[in-house]
Amino acid sequence: MEVNMLFNKQKSIYLDNAATTSVDKEVVEAMIPYFSEKYGNASSQHLIGQEAKRALEESREIIAKSIGAKRDEIIFTGSGTEANNFVLKGLFFANKDNKKNHIITTKIEHDCILNACKWLETQGAKVTYLNVNNEGFIDLNELKKSITPETLIVSVIHGNNEIGTIQDLKEIGKICKERGVHFHTDACQSYTKTDIDVNKQNLDFVTLNAHKIHGPKGVGALFIRKGIKIIPLLHGGGHEFGLRSSTENVPGIVGFAKSVRIAKESNIKHMEKLRDKLIEGILKIPNTQLNGPRDKRLCNNINVCFNNIEGEAIGGFLDSYGISSSTGSACSSHSLEPSHVLKAIGRTHVQINSSVRLSISKFTTDEEIDYVLEILNKIVDKLRKMSPIK
Ligand SMILES: Cc1ncc(COP(=O)(O)O)c(C=O)c1O
Repeated sequence: MEVNMLFNKQKSIYLDNAATTSVDKEVVEAMIPYFSEKYGNASSQHLIGQEAKRALEESREIIAKSIGAKRDEIIFTGSGTEANNFVLKGLFFANKDNKKNHIITTKIEHDCILNACKWLETQGAKVTYLNVNNEGFIDLNELKKSITPETLIVSVIHGNNEIGTIQDLKEIGKICKERGVHFHTDACQSYTKTDIDVNKQNLDFVTLNAHKIHGPKGVGALFIRKGIKIIPLLHGGGHEFGLRSSTENVPGIVGFAKSVRIAKESNIKHMEKLRDKLIEGILKIPNTQLNGPRDKRLCNNINVCFNNIEGEAIGGFLDSYGISSSTGSACSSHSLEPSHVLKAIGRTHVQINSSVRLSISKFTTDEEIDYVLEILNKIVDKLRKMSPIK
């Protein structure tokens, strides 16, 4: 590999939008007044406090409406991780005395669901981890068979953060309703990219966050269907209908709502077009395979196995060209464990190690995709020539 490849930083192309996105300028502008002149505590009775309260409630309304929920069914949290922990732990402890201790989830959840489940197992929960097929879809018959009289909740990720698979919430919701079990989805990756309707999909709980949709980091929300008993994780002054004490992060919440308000159908179409162009371009490189499905895939997700060359090496060289990508477990790739998601879809160790995720955003351009394809071809060609395995 020529040395200049390592220092070729003429462009910066961010293709790690599944990890986080840039905050949209319009979002920043909407947030700024709530740091400066409108800085009140939304619980204060004076005018400045009430101004913050109004902004908080308007934001709640926007987010509720976007998923067909009611205003008082949205609880703001500090992250998607917190919302996921809240639903599983809060519901489990609220039902500790009525023998409902069984949780059903999948093998391809985000770590915050999987690790919350593991911890709940130490507290007496029984957890079933559903298998997925080679595209990452759960089997509805396996789900049906897994439900027992002890089942409390089914928690299935909507759009997978690594391979983009979009599960059929409507069908899962139907099963959960028929069998009288709660249904939760982690929609951090799919929110504003594919439809979520809590009534049509029979959802009882939905996890959302802002930083995947050009909003700020450190803001999330949990939809909790009215009437469901859940125990708070945080006890204190009784904020958020008594379910999540903490002074609300008004600027962050206002930014979250703004990012939802500016999300457009045309952005989805744009991302789908670029996603397909990038996938088709990469698959022209010999001995490559798409991880995840062609259809029912998040509009911004591309994940490819380059067989016999290290994904980490590809990622490193892409970075040297100013192109950000990710490998391994993506939003937590400080872990050296091979991706549990790629493992669940049947990829071998070698295939997992040679996989790379590229995730685009509404700001990605056609020219950037052309450039990425050109560079990827060069890098793969070089690495393949260097590889002892052909
Ligand atoms: C599917 C999914 N769930 C949950 C999370 C965690 O969200 P947060 O970063 O807001 O804690 C992420 C992102 O890292 C995610 O992709």
